[in-house]
Amino acid sequence: MKSNTEKFGKTPHQPSLWTRADALKVHADDPTTTQPLVSADFPVLSNEVFIWDTMPLRDLDGNITSVDGWSVIFTLTADRHPNDPQYIDENGNYDITRDWNDRHGRAKMYYWFSRTGKDWELGGRVMAEGVSPTVREWAGTPILLNEQGEVDLYYTAVTPGATIVKVRGRVVTTEHGVSMVGFEKVKPLFEADGKMYQTEAQNPFWGFRDPWPFRDPNDGKLYMLFEGNVAGERGSHTVGEAEIGDVPPGYEDVGNSRFQTACVGIAVARDEDGDDWEMLPPLLTAVGVNDQTERPHFVFQDGKYYLFTISHTFTYADGVTGPDGVYGFVADSLFGPYVPLNGSGLVLGNPSSQPFQTYSHCVMPNGLVTSFIDSVPTDESGTQIRIGGTEAPTVGIRIKGQQTFVVAEYDYGYIPPMLDVTLK
Ligand code: FRU
Repeated sequence: MKSNTEKFGKTPHQPSLWTRADALKVHADDPTTTQPLVSADFPVLSNEVFIWDTMPLRDLDGNITSVDGWSVIFTLTADRHPNDPQYIDENGNYDITRDWNDRHGRAKMYYWFSRTGKDWELGGRVMAEGVSPTVREWAGTPILLNEQGEVDLYYTAVTPGATIVKVRGRVVTTEHGVSMVGFEKVKPLFEADGKMYQTEAQNPFWGFRDPWPFRDPNDGKLYMLFEGNVAGERGSHTVGEAEIGDVPPGYEDVGNSRFQTACVGIAVARDEDGDDWEMLPPLLTAVGVNDQTERPHFVFQDGKYYLFTISHTFTYADGVTGPDGVYGFVADSLFGPYVPLNGSGLVLGNPSSQPFQTYSHCVMPNGLVTSFIDSVPTDESGTQIRIGGTEAPTVGIRIKGQQTFVVAEYDYGYIPPMLDVTLK
């Protein structure tokens, strides 16, 4: 049987490994890598909709961009159903937890705008009903292409299947607000191939989503990160010496960790417009460690590649664990080798007293980290919770070499622009 990395041959690069030994260094509640407690009296963006994954408008170099002084974010969004009999429990109360937990099945892409980089106003749906080819519009990235306001929205079309797609439209501003026009023709780009990236046929729990296109600051080419799992039938992966790493005596038992096979995928565009893509071997694999490395993204700083990805407690393999939050890796060149930040990979996790308070962190090049509120306990025992579905307080981190430090906390959903583009 081939090892997980032999699958990828000798060229053009070997994936870096997030090993079980690295993950043993993950510790919740280190104040330098823990998100401050979110208070249960948080404000909500909207009483009509839940929002979760937040995707700030940016350029291909990663800069968060406002247009004519308007900040713009895209969010995965789903209606709240406080009056729908389907979500009323036997006592006649709205079961918001169930409504929230069902949201993924009806996720749609919405946009919001703001003059202040917070206090977001709802713009509406990006694509009209019927435009997107599948039921679920899952995460991706809106890219401002030029001063004409053209926007390429890369996202994931899910159920049936999971296809990385893009749709082009335009952002239009007035004194009073922002609208999105166009976004009428969705172009499928690629799906998992079963050779490098696991398919649904190989594993019904496969992940293939969350495109993050970027221009490499060094070679100038257009690439895209995405979430995947390493190809192969579910259960066929090996957790060998390479995946285990250098562990202390007594830590060799890997249990059933062969079922956890996350990777950060990368593709390169064959054309300037990003319509024609070739998948390359993953940049990073987490076989035997974790099953999900979601929403991968970069910060390019000090000539280095800082690769961030979000992950959960429940997706860790047997014998390793860590908080829900954002993890990071650093390399001197695009194709690695990548080293876990802070030794472990953990950059910003939830405190153990509020393990689900936030998720879907996005580290921006200015060191600000945005996320959404999932659920916050309202009593000591943690049995009563308040569901979020809204923006979390933004956190500031400092990135220094191979380390990161929490240094600041800002307002809810604070996503200031790094540059402003005046539309022509
Ligand atoms: C992260 C995530 C993404 C996915 C979306 C689905 O929170 O799991 O990977 O695109 O949410 O709702």
